Amino acid sequence: MSTGLPLFFRQLLRGPQAISAVAPSSPALARAMAAPLVRGMKVAEFGPGTGALTAGILARIPAQDVTLFEMNVEFAAHLAATLPGVTVHNAPAQEIGRLGGHDFDAVVSGLPLLSMPERLREEIYAAAFDALKPGGFVVQFTYGPRAPMPTDLCERLGLVVATGPRIWLNLPPARVYIYSRRADGMRRYAN
Ligand SMILES: C[S@@+](CC[C@H](N)C(=O)[O-])C[C@H]1O[C@@H](n2cnc3c(N)ncnc32)[C@H](O)[C@@H]1O
Repeated sequence: MSTGLPLFFRQLLRGPQAISAVAPSSPALARAMAAPLVRGMKVAEFGPGTGALTAGILARIPAQDVTLFEMNVEFAAHLAATLPGVTVHNAPAQEIGRLGGHDFDAVVSGLPLLSMPERLREEIYAAAFDALKPGGFVVQFTYGPRAPMPTDLCERLGLVVATGPRIWLNLPPARVYIYSRRADGMRRYAN
């Protein structure tokens, strides 16, 4: 797949708030984000951008089991043109339910949660967990020093968080987190 770098920087200049990153994620971060995925899972990705994390997902999961939700029309067109077999929705992640998503095993999220209002974070995570089967989980990265979903929000949604690795080989370095329903515990992450 093409790196989409020129496209990334054009969209960054046009809408820095929606992108909220200085560069696409690195291959090291993509590998860490995809580490909890195993063949046979049905996986959704939120905010794939130019597909940096998607490459990590596709190294583990066949294209027909991967569905992308990208709000930016140019990124969505690029992904659809370069990733045969992958389902691409040019739609906000929080519409996953309306678009028929209801039996996913995992959601990989590259969404810039820290630059979103708390109400939107809640809406997106509620929609993600409605679309996940029992035992399903969300893998999320953030550049911030703490987990990107505040504790009270996790309590309202009935979620627990497990802290994954810090990935230094990324600009800027990022930390991986895994969210799951409290009832499912934190048993999934194995790196
Ligand atoms: C920080 S970029 C991450 C791109 C890519 N995942 C990566 O790691 O390089 C955030 C992406 O999320 C997309 N985005 C922001 N809000 C969204 C939403 N509510 N639903 C779907 N995509 C969204 C932006 O258009 C952008 O492509």
